Amino acid sequence: MFEYIKLNNFRNYQEDVFVFKKGINIIIGPNGSGKTNLLEAIYCISRFSSFRTKLDNLIRNKTNKFILSTEYNNQQKTLIYNKESKTKQYYRNQKKVSISKQDQIPIVLFEPNFFNLNLVSNEQKRSFIDDLIIQIKPSYSKTISQYKKTLLQRNKLLKKGQTKDLFPWNIKICQLSQEIINNRLDIITEINQKISKRYNKFSNNFDKINLKYKSLINLENYSSNLLKQLENNFLQEKIIGHTLFGPHKDEIVFLFNNNNVKSFLSQGENRSIVLSLKLTEKEILEDKTNKLAIFLFDDLFSELDGNRRTTILKQIDINQTFITTTDVDLVINNLQSKFNILPINKKKL
Ligand SMILES: Nc1ncnc2c1ncn2[C@@H]1O[C@H](COP(=O)(O)OP(=O)(O)OP(=O)(O)O)[C@@H](O)[C@H]1O
Ligand SMILES: [Mg+2]
Repeated sequence: MFEYIKLNNFRNYQEDVFVFKKGINIIIGPNGSGKTNLLEAIYCISRFSSFRTKLDNLIRNKTNKFILSTEYNNQQKTLIYNKESKTKQYYRNQKKVSISKQDQIPIVLFEPNFFNLNLVSNEQKRSFIDDLIIQIKPSYSKTISQYKKTLLQRNKLLKKGQTKDLFPWNIKICQLSQEIINNRLDIITEINQKISKRYNKFSNNFDKINLKYKSLINLENYSSNLLKQLENNFLQEKIIGHTLFGPHKDEIVFLFNNNNVKSFLSQGENRSIVLSLKLTEKEILEDKTNKLAIFLFDDLFSELDGNRRTTILKQIDINQTFITTTDVDLVINNLQSKFNILPINKKKL
């Protein structure tokens, strides 16, 4: 668990320390006070990146580096990021080391723009799946970045009309695609085995939740089917100027008793599915990494009724969880006596 975090020139924090407890830590403050920034700091020292932006933007305005320090599971960790040199310096127990797999702390993040499944884009859903795979299997991030680079190259050729030179890029795309598809389908199968059980704790019945991977390419023999599509459709792609088929176009659909959730679910039900997904994510992550994961829940309570709030709080009250809220009444009436409350109200700097 995190004992504390110290922030230097990080976002709106000049120099601040927050002391945490095991279990649920509630960060409370008005809009713009720095709640999400604090979650972002915890994320950043755990994953060495941000979930919102590039590291440059995390440095406090008019300064040129940020420092985050923490003690996690009896280990001191310090991350310094410098804008000019674009370098990350990392210290483990005061010793400068390069960041390795063991320094990654598994994180399950719940953010407002993933609340409403009707509004979540396919791109967001694909990144959610890809990011979960990366946390389990860090080498997958190379596969994804190689795929993106290859796609960029292929699109450049399409834009220039150099369709004669496409073949080697088609092959590369197909190879990488198969790897991406295999990983995505595996993790979706795992999620599907667990998510309904989680959801039923919220709804008290036996509704079935499933994720379905949808592609224009036949999923059996994805890479050879993709190659055929790329070879057959390059003229159309040349007109449009980018690649129309592949894992970057695939869709992930949420099914509620085998119907697409888009059509009929209420906001609260929608959010319960997302919460079930996050609880499932944590279970899988902990299973595969053999480490305990940290929950970061940004603005968890809005649009959840009292029952669902209690259900979620019961299910996350293990290891360590960080929840942000603006709801002072809720904290005073229901949560103050049970959890560690961290009030913040940063003045604008
Ligand atoms: N690099 C930076 N330097 C200084 N201030 C920054 C920087 N980045 C963001 N801020 C400031 O941080 C504040 C927002 O913090 P944050 O997003 O954490 O708010 P919040 O408490 O989560 O608010 P809400 O309840 O609306 O979600 C803004 O006032 C913003 O101007
Ligand atoms: Mg916020």
